[in-house]
Amino acid sequence: MSTIQDVAKYAGVSISTVSRVLNGTARVNPDVMVRVRTAIEALNYQPSRAARALRSNQSSIIGLLITDIQNPFFTALVRGVEDVAQRNGYSLILCNSDENPLKEQQYIEVLCSQRVAGAIVVPTREQAHSLQPFRELGIPALAVDRRVKDPDIDTVVVDNQRGAYEAVKHLCANGYQRIGVVTGPQTTTTGRERLLGYRRALIESGITPDPQLERQGPFKMAAGQQFAGELLDLDEPVDALFVANNLLTIGALEAISMRNMRIPEDIAIVAFDDIPWAALGSVSLTTVTQPVYELGSTAALRLFQRMQKGASFTRQEIVLSPTLHVRNSSQPRQPLLA
Ligand code: RIB
Repeated sequence: MSTIQDVAKYAGVSISTVSRVLNGTARVNPDVMVRVRTAIEALNYQPSRAARALRSNQSSIIGLLITDIQNPFFTALVRGVEDVAQRNGYSLILCNSDENPLKEQQYIEVLCSQRVAGAIVVPTREQAHSLQPFRELGIPALAVDRRVKDPDIDTVVVDNQRGAYEAVKHLCANGYQRIGVVTGPQTTTTGRERLLGYRRALIESGITPDPQLERQGPFKMAAGQQFAGELLDLDEPVDALFVANNLLTIGALEAISMRNMRIPEDIAIVAFDDIPWAALGSVSLTTVTQPVYELGSTAALRLFQRMQKGASFTRQEIVLSPTLHVRNSSQPRQPLLA
């Protein structure tokens, strides 16, 4: 039996274009309309009963697209979204883009073809219009955790710059002078804003940011280990590290352990994101904690508001506050002089 993907391939268009032709909710180029209708007849495509129900806006499904299903950070975010969805009688389709913009777009097309009632996306990059297919079909959608460059898209984020600023100000106040940073891709607002907060804290503490002490790359453990190792191996090594997410931090801790370095005696460290065992173990980790469950539940509540009110709502940006939890890993090496 032919699928909507077969029709799109046959007609040489996207799945969302086929959806628009099928449900007529948006203008379609006449030539494209002919190609799609020709494909539907040639393939004898019969939209499934479920697809017909979904297209008639009877969908009781919300789409949630995250960037890394292996990152435990997203577990609490998904739970926050799902609890609100369930309370409103909706189910969830969970998708994983693997921080890959192409995969992100493929999943957006799939969610459009399933005619979800609404969608929440953790963007792989700040690229504008990545959520355009939803708008074309009149599906309410919003960005969570990271921003997109789109003035019409609601956003629910944490104040990343503030969290990074407080973490690094704290290290400076404890006497650390050569503070390195390991952050994520600058194409993401989380990676970029945490770097900006780091730099602002140094400047306000009278320290000129040194590009040699900055590393940026994928939000992955391997990158954390590589970049932290580079900073620890400098001729004039860093005396503290600010690491911009949980996976990078696990990698950085591996690099420190491989060098038999002690925390904080040989190297201080502050991590963005809580790590379940942060308060345990011989060295408790100073962390910037994000209200992750609240990030998900707030995003879902905002989406349901949009679904009820349609386009009449004005765009909103909701910014939640992170919290610095000071523990042993960032304590001053030498007692600070009174
Ligand atoms: O560990 C996940 C956190 O780091 C999220 O904020 C995600 O966007 C990444 O920046």
